[in-house]
Amino acid sequence: MVQHKQTRVVHVDAQRPDAAIIEEAASLLRAGELVIFPTETVYGLGTNALQTTAVEQIFAAKERPYSDPLIAHIADLASLEVLVTDFPDAARKLAHSFWPGPLTMVLPASARVPRLITAGLDSVAVRMPSHPVAQALIRAAALPIAAPSANRFMHISPTTAQHALADLMGRVALILDGGPCTVGVESTIVDLSGPTPTILRPGGVSLEALRVILPTIMSPEQRTITHNDNATQKAPGQMLTHYSPRVPAFLVEGTPEEMRNTMQAEVQRRQATGQRVGILIADEDVASFQGSGAHIYALGNAPEQAAARLYAGLRVLEDAEVEVILCRNFSEQGIGLALRDRLLKATGGKVLRLPLA
Ligand code: TXA
Ligand code: MG
Repeated sequence: MVQHKQTRVVHVDAQRPDAAIIEEAASLLRAGELVIFPTETVYGLGTNALQTTAVEQIFAAKERPYSDPLIAHIADLASLEVLVTDFPDAARKLAHSFWPGPLTMVLPASARVPRLITAGLDSVAVRMPSHPVAQALIRAAALPIAAPSANRFMHISPTTAQHALADLMGRVALILDGGPCTVGVESTIVDLSGPTPTILRPGGVSLEALRVILPTIMSPEQRTITHNDNATQKAPGQMLTHYSPRVPAFLVEGTPEEMRNTMQAEVQRRQATGQRVGILIADEDVASFQGSGAHIYALGNAPEQAAARLYAGLRVLEDAEVEVILCRNFSEQGIGLALRDRLLKATGGKVLRLPLA
Protein backbone atom coordinates (compact mmCIF):
# COMPACT_ATOMS: atom_id res chain seq x y z
CA MET A 1 0.00 0.00 0.00
CA VAL A 2 0.99 3.64 -0.38
CA GLN A 3 0.52 4.69 3.26
CA HIS A 4 3.62 3.23 4.88
CA LYS A 5 6.39 5.75 5.27
CA GLN A 6 7.45 8.08 8.04
CA THR A 7 7.61 11.48 6.35
CA ARG A 8 10.42 13.71 7.65
CA VAL A 9 10.25 17.44 7.01
CA VAL A 10 13.67 19.11 7.08
CA HIS A 11 14.25 22.86 6.82
CA VAL A 12 16.82 23.99 4.27
CA ASP A 13 18.11 27.47 3.54
CA ALA A 14 16.54 28.38 0.18
CA GLN A 15 19.66 30.22 -1.00
CA ARG A 16 22.46 28.16 0.61
CA PRO A 17 21.15 24.67 1.36
CA ASP A 18 23.17 22.59 3.80
CA ALA A 19 25.36 20.14 1.84
CA ALA A 20 24.81 17.25 4.27
CA ILE A 21 21.01 17.50 3.99
CA ILE A 22 21.22 17.69 0.20
CA GLU A 23 23.48 14.63 0.12
CA GLU A 24 21.04 12.70 2.30
CA ALA A 25 18.13 13.61 0.00
CA ALA A 26 20.21 12.78 -3.08
CA SER A 27 21.06 9.33 -1.75
CA LEU A 28 17.35 8.66 -1.19
CA LEU A 29 16.72 9.65 -4.82
CA ARG A 30 19.51 7.39 -6.04
CA ALA A 31 17.92 4.55 -4.05
CA GLY A 32 14.62 5.12 -5.89
CA GLU A 33 12.82 6.77 -2.94
CA LEU A 34 10.50 9.79 -3.16
CA VAL A 35 11.72 13.24 -2.03
CA ILE A 36 9.68 16.45 -2.14
CA PHE A 37 11.73 19.56 -2.94
CA PRO A 38 11.07 23.25 -3.66
CA THR A 39 11.38 24.77 -7.13
CA GLU A 40 10.74 28.43 -8.00
CA THR A 41 7.29 27.46 -9.37
CA VAL A 42 5.78 24.84 -7.03
CA TYR A 43 7.07 21.96 -4.89
CA GLY A 44 7.96 18.82 -6.85
CA LEU A 45 7.59 15.14 -5.91
CA GLY A 46 10.85 13.72 -7.19
CA THR A 47 12.55 10.42 -7.90
CA ASN A 48 15.08 8.80 -10.25
CA ALA A 49 13.74 9.48 -13.76
CA LEU A 50 15.63 6.54 -15.27
CA GLN A 51 14.21 3.86 -12.96
CA THR A 52 10.72 2.60 -13.83
CA THR A 53 9.98 1.15 -10.36
CA ALA A 54 10.85 4.51 -8.77
CA VAL A 55 8.66 6.43 -11.23
CA GLU A 56 5.79 4.03 -10.54
CA GLN A 57 5.79 5.18 -6.92
CA ILE A 58 5.11 8.78 -7.99
CA PHE A 59 1.87 7.71 -9.67
CA ALA A 60 0.91 5.61 -6.63
CA ALA A 61 1.63 8.39 -4.11
CA LYS A 62 -0.33 11.01 -6.12
CA GLU A 63 -3.04 8.56 -7.24
CA ARG A 64 -2.30 9.92 -10.70
CA PRO A 65 -3.37 8.05 -13.85
CA TYR A 66 -0.57 6.71 -16.07
CA SER A 67 -2.01 8.72 -18.98
CA ASP A 68 -0.56 11.95 -17.49
CA PRO A 69 3.16 12.29 -18.39
CA LEU A 70 5.87 13.66 -16.07
CA ILE A 71 8.57 16.33 -16.37
CA ALA A 72 12.25 15.29 -16.09
CA HIS A 73 14.34 17.87 -14.20
CA ILE A 74 18.02 18.46 -14.98
CA ALA A 75 20.75 20.76 -13.65
CA ASP A 76 22.96 21.06 -16.75
CA LEU A 77 22.65 20.80 -20.53
CA ALA A 78 24.91 17.72 -20.64
CA SER A 79 22.09 15.76 -18.96
CA LEU A 80 19.96 16.20 -22.09
CA GLU A 81 22.10 13.54 -23.74
CA VAL A 82 20.39 10.66 -21.97
CA LEU A 83 16.85 12.12 -22.33
CA VAL A 84 16.39 13.50 -25.85
CA THR A 85 17.37 12.58 -29.41
CA ASP A 86 17.27 16.13 -30.77
CA PHE A 87 17.80 19.63 -29.37
CA PRO A 88 16.60 21.91 -32.18
CA ASP A 89 17.83 25.44 -32.68
CA ALA A 90 14.63 26.94 -31.22
CA ALA A 91 15.12 24.88 -28.04
CA ARG A 92 18.72 26.02 -27.81
CA LYS A 93 17.61 29.65 -28.01
CA LEU A 94 14.95 29.19 -25.32
CA ALA A 95 17.40 27.34 -23.06
CA HIS A 96 19.93 30.13 -23.49
CA SER A 97 17.36 32.76 -22.39
CA PHE A 98 15.19 30.94 -19.83
CA TRP A 99 17.18 28.07 -18.31
CA PRO A 100 17.56 27.67 -15.47
CA GLY A 101 14.00 28.87 -14.82
CA PRO A 102 10.26 28.19 -15.02
CA LEU A 103 10.30 26.79 -18.57
CA THR A 104 9.63 23.16 -19.61
CA MET A 105 10.43 22.00 -23.15
CA VAL A 106 8.82 18.99 -24.83
CA LEU A 107 11.46 17.29 -27.01
CA PRO A 108 11.87 14.00 -28.90
CA ALA A 109 12.45 11.31 -26.24
CA SER A 110 15.39 8.93 -26.23
CA ALA A 111 14.86 5.20 -25.71
CA ARG A 112 16.40 5.52 -22.21
CA VAL A 113 13.35 7.43 -20.90
CA PRO A 114 10.88 5.09 -19.16
CA ARG A 115 7.52 4.97 -20.95
CA LEU A 116 5.82 5.81 -17.66
CA ILE A 117 7.38 9.30 -17.83
CA THR A 118 6.20 9.98 -21.38
CA ALA A 119 2.82 8.23 -21.00
CA GLY A 120 3.76 6.33 -24.13
CA LEU A 121 4.34 9.47 -26.24
CA ASP A 122 7.51 9.76 -28.29
CA SER A 123 8.36 13.08 -26.59
CA VAL A 124 9.61 13.95 -23.12
CA ALA A 125 9.15 17.14 -21.08
CA VAL A 126 12.41 18.56 -19.66
CA ARG A 127 12.96 21.43 -17.25
CA MET A 128 16.04 23.01 -15.62
CA PRO A 129 14.76 24.77 -12.47
CA SER A 130 16.61 27.75 -11.00
CA HIS A 131 15.80 27.21 -7.30
CA PRO A 132 19.13 26.68 -5.50
CA VAL A 133 17.73 23.71 -3.52
CA ALA A 134 16.42 21.99 -6.67
CA GLN A 135 19.71 22.64 -8.47
CA ALA A 136 21.85 21.36 -5.60
CA LEU A 137 19.67 18.26 -5.22
CA ILE A 138 19.66 17.30 -8.91
CA ARG A 139 23.41 17.87 -9.13
CA ALA A 140 24.11 15.80 -6.02
CA ALA A 141 21.87 12.96 -7.21
CA ALA A 142 23.69 13.06 -10.57
CA LEU A 143 20.49 11.86 -12.23
CA PRO A 144 17.57 13.38 -14.11
CA ILE A 145 14.74 13.73 -11.58
CA ALA A 146 11.14 12.98 -12.58
CA ALA A 147 8.87 15.31 -10.63
CA PRO A 148 5.24 16.32 -10.93
CA SER A 149 3.78 18.90 -8.58
CA ALA A 150 3.70 17.41 -5.04
CA ASN A 151 -0.09 17.31 -4.59
CA ARG A 152 -2.71 14.57 -4.82
CA PHE A 153 -3.95 14.19 -8.40
CA MET A 154 -6.56 16.87 -9.29
CA HIS A 155 -5.83 18.89 -6.14
CA ILE A 156 -4.13 22.30 -5.85
CA SER A 157 -0.36 22.44 -6.51
CA PRO A 158 1.74 23.06 -3.37
CA THR A 159 3.66 26.29 -2.90
CA THR A 160 4.85 25.45 0.63
CA ALA A 161 6.21 22.30 2.27
CA GLN A 162 3.11 22.28 4.51
CA HIS A 163 0.83 22.05 1.44
CA ALA A 164 2.83 19.06 0.17
CA LEU A 165 2.75 17.43 3.61
CA ALA A 166 -1.03 17.90 3.85
CA ASP A 167 -1.50 15.97 0.58
CA LEU A 168 1.26 13.35 0.77
CA MET A 169 2.07 12.66 4.43
CA GLY A 170 3.04 9.01 4.91
CA ARG A 171 3.67 8.56 1.19
CA VAL A 172 7.17 10.06 0.86
CA ALA A 173 10.43 9.63 2.76
CA LEU A 174 11.52 13.26 3.00
CA ILE A 175 10.32 16.81 2.37
CA LEU A 176 12.89 19.58 1.97
CA ASP A 177 11.25 22.74 3.30
CA GLY A 178 12.79 25.75 1.54
CA GLY A 179 9.94 28.16 2.33
CA PRO A 180 7.29 29.49 -0.07
CA CYS A 181 7.81 29.29 -3.86
CA THR A 182 8.38 32.68 -5.46
CA VAL A 183 6.61 32.20 -8.83
CA GLY A 184 3.71 30.19 -7.43
CA VAL A 185 2.25 28.79 -10.67
CA GLU A 186 3.77 25.93 -12.67
CA SER A 187 6.31 26.25 -15.47
CA THR A 188 5.42 27.27 -19.01
CA ILE A 189 5.40 24.19 -21.24
CA VAL A 190 6.57 24.67 -24.85
CA ASP A 191 6.32 21.84 -27.37
CA LEU A 192 9.43 21.77 -29.57
CA SER A 193 8.94 18.24 -30.86
CA GLY A 194 6.97 19.36 -33.96
CA PRO A 195 7.45 21.90 -36.77
CA THR A 196 5.93 24.89 -34.90
CA PRO A 197 7.01 25.76 -31.34
CA THR A 198 3.74 25.77 -29.38
CA ILE A 199 2.84 26.75 -25.83
CA LEU A 200 0.97 23.83 -24.26
CA ARG A 201 0.58 25.44 -20.81
CA PRO A 202 1.13 29.11 -19.90
CA GLY A 203 3.30 29.50 -16.79
CA GLY A 204 6.20 31.24 -15.11
CA VAL A 205 7.80 32.45 -18.37
CA SER A 206 5.43 34.87 -20.09
CA LEU A 207 4.18 34.73 -23.68
CA GLU A 208 5.67 38.21 -24.26
CA ALA A 209 9.13 37.06 -23.11
CA LEU A 210 8.95 33.92 -25.29
CA ARG A 211 7.91 36.01 -28.32
CA VAL A 212 11.05 38.15 -27.98
CA ILE A 213 13.15 35.02 -28.57
CA LEU A 214 10.76 33.08 -30.89
CA PRO A 215 8.41 35.60 -32.57
CA THR A 216 6.37 32.86 -34.31
CA ILE A 217 5.70 30.74 -31.21
CA MET A 218 2.07 29.61 -31.10
CA SER A 219 0.13 30.88 -28.08
CA PRO A 220 -2.23 28.58 -26.16
CA GLU A 221 -5.14 30.54 -27.65
CA GLN A 222 -3.94 30.07 -31.25
CA ARG A 223 -3.37 26.40 -30.55
CA THR A 224 -6.94 25.88 -29.31
CA ILE A 225 -8.30 27.58 -32.43
CA THR A 226 -6.07 25.71 -34.90
CA HIS A 227 -5.92 22.28 -33.27
CA ASN A 228 -9.18 22.03 -31.41
CA ASP A 229 -9.66 18.45 -32.59
CA ASN A 230 -6.49 17.04 -31.03
CA ALA A 231 -5.69 19.65 -28.38
CA THR A 232 -6.24 17.25 -25.47
CA GLN A 233 -4.01 14.66 -27.09
CA LYS A 234 -1.21 17.21 -27.57
CA ALA A 235 -1.36 18.41 -23.97
CA PRO A 236 -2.25 15.38 -21.90
CA GLY A 237 -3.15 16.14 -18.31
CA GLN A 238 -4.38 19.63 -19.17
CA MET A 239 -8.07 19.01 -18.51
CA LEU A 240 -10.12 21.93 -17.27
CA THR A 241 -10.42 20.77 -13.66
CA HIS A 242 -6.75 19.90 -13.24
CA TYR A 243 -6.04 22.36 -10.43
CA SER A 244 -9.15 22.26 -8.34
CA PRO A 245 -10.05 23.14 -4.81
CA ARG A 246 -12.43 20.68 -3.14
CA VAL A 247 -15.23 23.29 -3.13
CA PRO A 248 -17.01 24.86 -6.11
CA ALA A 249 -15.41 28.10 -7.30
CA PHE A 250 -16.37 30.94 -9.64
CA LEU A 251 -14.24 33.47 -11.51
CA VAL A 252 -15.64 37.00 -11.35
CA GLU A 253 -14.94 39.20 -14.38
CA GLY A 254 -15.33 42.87 -15.33
CA THR A 255 -13.70 46.17 -14.46
CA PRO A 256 -12.35 46.34 -10.87
CA GLU A 257 -15.52 48.15 -9.82
CA GLU A 258 -17.81 45.70 -11.64
CA MET A 259 -15.97 42.79 -10.06
CA ARG A 260 -16.46 44.27 -6.58
CA ASN A 261 -20.16 44.87 -7.24
CA THR A 262 -20.71 41.41 -8.72
CA MET A 263 -18.92 39.79 -5.82
CA GLN A 264 -20.77 41.81 -3.20
CA ALA A 265 -24.14 40.86 -4.71
CA GLU A 266 -23.13 37.21 -4.92
CA VAL A 267 -21.76 37.14 -1.35
CA GLN A 268 -25.04 38.61 -0.02
CA ARG A 269 -27.21 36.28 -2.09
CA ARG A 270 -25.36 33.17 -0.91
CA GLN A 271 -25.08 34.25 2.72
CA ALA A 272 -28.82 34.88 2.78
CA THR A 273 -29.24 31.14 2.15
CA GLY A 274 -26.80 30.34 4.97
CA GLN A 275 -23.79 29.51 2.79
CA ARG A 276 -20.22 30.08 3.98
CA VAL A 277 -18.51 32.11 1.25
CA GLY A 278 -14.76 32.52 0.65
CA ILE A 279 -13.40 35.28 -1.55
CA LEU A 280 -10.03 35.77 -3.25
CA ILE A 281 -9.65 39.49 -3.88
CA ALA A 282 -7.02 42.17 -4.51
CA ASP A 283 -5.59 44.18 -1.61
CA GLU A 284 -7.39 47.20 -3.05
CA ASP A 285 -10.76 45.41 -2.61
CA VAL A 286 -10.31 44.47 1.06
CA ALA A 287 -11.94 47.61 2.53
CA SER A 288 -15.11 46.96 0.49
CA PHE A 289 -15.57 43.49 2.01
CA GLN A 290 -14.69 44.20 5.63
CA GLY A 291 -17.68 43.20 7.74
CA SER A 292 -19.32 41.35 4.82
CA GLY A 293 -19.09 38.05 6.68
CA ALA A 294 -17.16 36.43 3.81
CA HIS A 295 -13.83 34.68 4.47
CA ILE A 296 -11.32 37.02 2.84
CA TYR A 297 -7.94 36.09 1.32
CA ALA A 298 -6.09 38.98 -0.29
CA LEU A 299 -3.86 38.15 -3.27
CA GLY A 300 -2.01 41.50 -3.58
CA ASN A 301 -2.62 43.91 -6.45
CA ALA A 302 -0.13 42.88 -9.16
CA PRO A 303 -0.54 39.62 -11.11
CA GLU A 304 2.93 38.48 -9.91
CA GLN A 305 1.76 38.66 -6.29
CA ALA A 306 -1.56 37.03 -7.10
CA ALA A 307 0.20 34.16 -8.91
CA ALA A 308 2.51 33.63 -5.93
CA ARG A 309 -0.43 33.57 -3.45
CA LEU A 310 -3.25 31.92 -5.42
CA TYR A 311 -2.69 28.29 -4.43
CA ALA A 312 -2.13 29.18 -0.76
CA GLY A 313 -5.34 31.22 -0.85
CA LEU A 314 -7.38 28.36 -2.31
CA ARG A 315 -6.05 26.01 0.39
CA VAL A 316 -6.71 28.49 3.22
CA LEU A 317 -10.33 28.91 2.10
CA GLU A 318 -10.72 25.16 1.68
CA ASP A 319 -9.41 24.63 5.23
CA ALA A 320 -11.85 27.30 6.49
CA GLU A 321 -14.56 24.96 5.15
CA VAL A 322 -16.24 27.54 2.98
CA GLU A 323 -18.92 26.12 0.69
CA VAL A 324 -18.09 28.28 -2.33
CA ILE A 325 -15.10 30.36 -3.47
CA LEU A 326 -15.40 33.53 -5.55
CA CYS A 327 -12.21 34.84 -7.13
CA ARG A 328 -11.62 38.07 -8.97
CA ASN A 329 -9.78 38.34 -12.26
CA PHE A 330 -6.44 40.13 -12.75
CA SER A 331 -4.56 41.64 -15.69
CA GLU A 332 -3.65 39.14 -18.42
CA GLN A 333 -0.25 40.70 -19.06
CA GLY A 334 2.92 38.73 -18.28
CA ILE A 335 2.29 36.02 -15.72
CA GLY A 336 -1.36 37.16 -15.69
CA LEU A 337 -2.02 34.77 -18.60
CA ALA A 338 -0.94 31.78 -16.50
CA LEU A 339 -2.86 33.14 -13.52
CA ARG A 340 -6.07 33.35 -15.55
CA ASP A 341 -5.49 29.84 -16.94
CA ARG A 342 -5.24 28.46 -13.37
CA LEU A 343 -8.28 30.48 -12.25
CA LEU A 344 -10.31 28.98 -15.11
CA LYS A 345 -9.07 25.52 -14.14
CA ALA A 346 -9.83 26.06 -10.44
CA THR A 347 -13.34 27.20 -11.33
CA GLY A 348 -13.91 24.63 -14.07
CA GLY A 349 -14.53 27.59 -16.38
CA LYS A 350 -17.47 28.96 -14.33
CA VAL A 351 -17.52 32.75 -14.80
CA LEU A 352 -19.72 35.42 -13.15
CA ARG A 353 -20.13 38.89 -14.62
CA LEU A 354 -22.71 41.66 -14.48
CA PRO A 355 -25.63 41.59 -15.01
CA LEU A 356 -26.19 38.51 -12.84
CA ALA A 357 -28.92 36.20 -14.10
O1 TXA B 1 6.43 23.96 -12.54
C1 TXA B 1 6.28 22.80 -12.89
O2 TXA B 1 6.22 22.47 -14.10
C2 TXA B 1 6.16 21.73 -11.81
C3 TXA B 1 7.51 21.62 -11.10
C4 TXA B 1 7.51 20.55 -10.04
O3 TXA B 1 8.51 21.39 -12.06
N1 TXA B 1 5.78 20.47 -12.36
C5 TXA B 1 4.54 20.22 -12.85
O4 TXA B 1 4.36 18.91 -13.23
O5 TXA B 1 3.68 21.06 -12.93
P1 TXA B 1 2.94 18.24 -13.47
O6 TXA B 1 3.22 16.78 -13.54
O7 TXA B 1 1.99 18.67 -12.45
O8 TXA B 1 2.55 18.71 -14.89
C6 TXA B 1 3.26 18.21 -16.00
C7 TXA B 1 2.46 18.35 -17.26
C8 TXA B 1 1.56 17.18 -17.58
O9 TXA B 1 0.33 17.24 -16.93
C9 TXA B 1 1.43 17.31 -19.09
O10 TXA B 1 0.37 18.21 -19.36
C10 TXA B 1 2.74 17.97 -19.49
O11 TXA B 1 3.39 18.37 -18.34
N2 TXA B 1 3.63 17.02 -20.19
C11 TXA B 1 4.56 16.20 -19.68
N3 TXA B 1 5.17 15.48 -20.63
C12 TXA B 1 4.61 15.84 -21.80
C13 TXA B 1 4.78 15.45 -23.17
N4 TXA B 1 5.68 14.52 -23.51
N5 TXA B 1 4.02 16.05 -24.09
C14 TXA B 1 3.10 17.00 -23.75
N6 TXA B 1 2.88 17.41 -22.48
C15 TXA B 1 3.62 16.83 -21.52
MG1 MG C 1 0.42 19.04 -11.34
